[in-house]
Amino acid sequence: MELADKHVVVTGGAGGIGRALIRRFAAEGAGALVVADRALEPAQAIAREVDGLAIELDAGREESVRSLIAEASAANGPIDIFISNAGVPGAIGGPEADDDVWDEAWRVNVMAHVWASRALLPEMLGRGEGYLINTASAAGLLTQVSSLVYSVTKHAAVSLAEWLAIEYGDAGVRVSCICPQGVRTPMLDLAMEEPAGAAALTSGGLIEPEDVADAVVAGIAEERFLILPHENVSRFMALKGSDPERWLKGMRRLVREARASGGAGAQSS
Ligand SMILES: NC(=O)c1ccc[n+]([C@@H]2O[C@H](COP(=O)([O-])OP(=O)(O)OC[C@H]3O[C@@H](n4cnc5c(N)ncnc54)[C@H](O)[C@@H]3O)[C@@H](O)[C@H]2O)c1
Repeated sequence: MELADKHVVVTGGAGGIGRALIRRFAAEGAGALVVADRALEPAQAIAREVDGLAIELDAGREESVRSLIAEASAANGPIDIFISNAGVPGAIGGPEADDDVWDEAWRVNVMAHVWASRALLPEMLGRGEGYLINTASAAGLLTQVSSLVYSVTKHAAVSLAEWLAIEYGDAGVRVSCICPQGVRTPMLDLAMEEPAGAAALTSGGLIEPEDVADAVVAGIAEERFLILPHENVSRFMALKGSDPERWLKGMRRLVREARASGGAGAQSS
């Protein structure tokens, strides 16, 4: 899809990857940009910069996602591209994370995408056109060893995007799923506190949010389903698919070595 003149909404648009997407879409000539975030002031600042509209959003509540879509559509007409990008890191560790942490991650990392597609699909299917883009993570393809909550919810986000792509791909609704590994944003800080998480995240090299924006613009142009800003992710997906036992063994070695050395290490195969 061409970005020129399109009405694009980005959730989590006030910072990190979302803000880089907004800036890049403005440079690509998008027609109307909506910056949706729970942090209203930074959302307003970036909206001013691109002559867009800032809308306060709690991506973890369906009524807030619905009212974002209604407000954006009332201001700019039908939404051409909706990027469900807001996400939360969950907690370091495993099943012991509090239910509140699980609940927030399910709502923001998974249900926000469900609610957006629920609200947008009737209009997009009626028009025979539209583009749903969900930011998941390489953690949804390969597992983020530092956080069970994050891995599980991002796997669900990938699965949801796959399902939508299969079900609606022939009806004119495009679907893409953005799956980066380590990107230098505030969200990275929590995962970097845990040695194995840091080793896994840095194994493909840390990239900037602007690099993700480059990959997303290229992915939109090709209407590619999986947008992988790190090239090593597809190699590890192939290994996981063809030899899951070897992949698990490699991941266990990565965790062992990273924890023994207090952080340094590389993702092994
Ligand atoms: N940084 C990474 O290494 C990395 C890697 C893979 C995937 N991701 C994913 O990319 C997306 C963007 O993350 P980022 O790295 O830019 O993080 P970030 O923390 O820099 O930005 C996240 C933005 O989302 C907003 N947000 C959080 N919860 C919200 C909510 N309930 N409602 C509305 N807005 C909310 C925040 O205010 C912030 O502006 C997330 O889905 C994240 O899981 C990040």
